[in-house]
Amino acid sequence: MKDKILVLGSNGQIGTELVTALRVTYGNDNVVACDIRRPDYEIKNAGPFEFVNVLEKDILNTIFAKYKPTQVYLLAALLSATGEQNPKLAWDLNMNGLLNVLDLALVYKTAKVYWPSSIAVFGPNSPKNNTPQFCTMDPNTVYGISKLAGERWCEYYHQKYGLDVRSIRYPGLISWKAAPGGGTTDYAIHIFHEALKKGSYASFLSAETELPMMYMDDAIRGTIELMDAPENQISIRSSYNFGGVSFTPEVLAEEIKKHIPNFKLTYAGHDPRQQIADSWPKSIDDSFAQNEWGWKPEFDIAKLTLDMLMNLKK
Ligand code: SER
Repeated sequence: MKDKILVLGSNGQIGTELVTALRVTYGNDNVVACDIRRPDYEIKNAGPFEFVNVLEKDILNTIFAKYKPTQVYLLAALLSATGEQNPKLAWDLNMNGLLNVLDLALVYKTAKVYWPSSIAVFGPNSPKNNTPQFCTMDPNTVYGISKLAGERWCEYYHQKYGLDVRSIRYPGLISWKAAPGGGTTDYAIHIFHEALKKGSYASFLSAETELPMMYMDDAIRGTIELMDAPENQISIRSSYNFGGVSFTPEVLAEEIKKHIPNFKLTYAGHDPRQQIADSWPKSIDDSFAQNEWGWKPEFDIAKLTLDMLMNLKK
């Protein structure tokens, strides 16, 4: 059967790059970008686009009926920092958006569904270093709560209805093509823009806050590798731990200084995102992803720093 792919939330930080990558493999016409906002010029003109709000189930239903997708990627979500500003909306979008998609995937017999989870599923009682796949979770942000509940729903739909749903717990994602969407890890993107513009950056996280991070190229490749993996290589239907690199603002600043010697990192002062960051892991044990479907990141801190500065300079 010919693949037809829906990407819901196509204009965000991940969607922008995922749509482009999928169109290279499957052809422009077979990847339908969907978002509540008008897409940028490049996505709209390269292939089909639909206005879709994942909370409007009737409209979503007409899109499933129109395209009969074989694969659906659901990326529409409110992230950790914006979620705390509007907890009920974050819960509604992150949870009911997922349930709408899981239900329609059953109705239209969608072969595979992808839904991203996050390191935000962990909380202050989880082990901080090399956080394992299975441990105490207790997330304390609405984003983390919705992602953990979503993971349980994904596993439930797989066990109960046989839906082939796959998921990754993304760390902080670093990229230059599209703006980040209101996360706690966004400092690691802002820092590059400000380093080039002003030669300095006032971080909203303290210099020694260590968090798991990943370059977007790795995240997109890993996502597609998981979706392409044979079903018998996937034992986890909640969501896979997924590791890239781990660093603090201070360590990232040192790396930037190798290219911009006068770069200065300062601290912006008290910010609610610090408390979120302090509740999350410092590093991730992703041995299930490595052993089951061969995950291996390519970008270390030196390589991602070079790539970010090179592309943002253009
Ligand atoms: N980057 C996300 C956030 O900070 C983590 O999944 O919200």
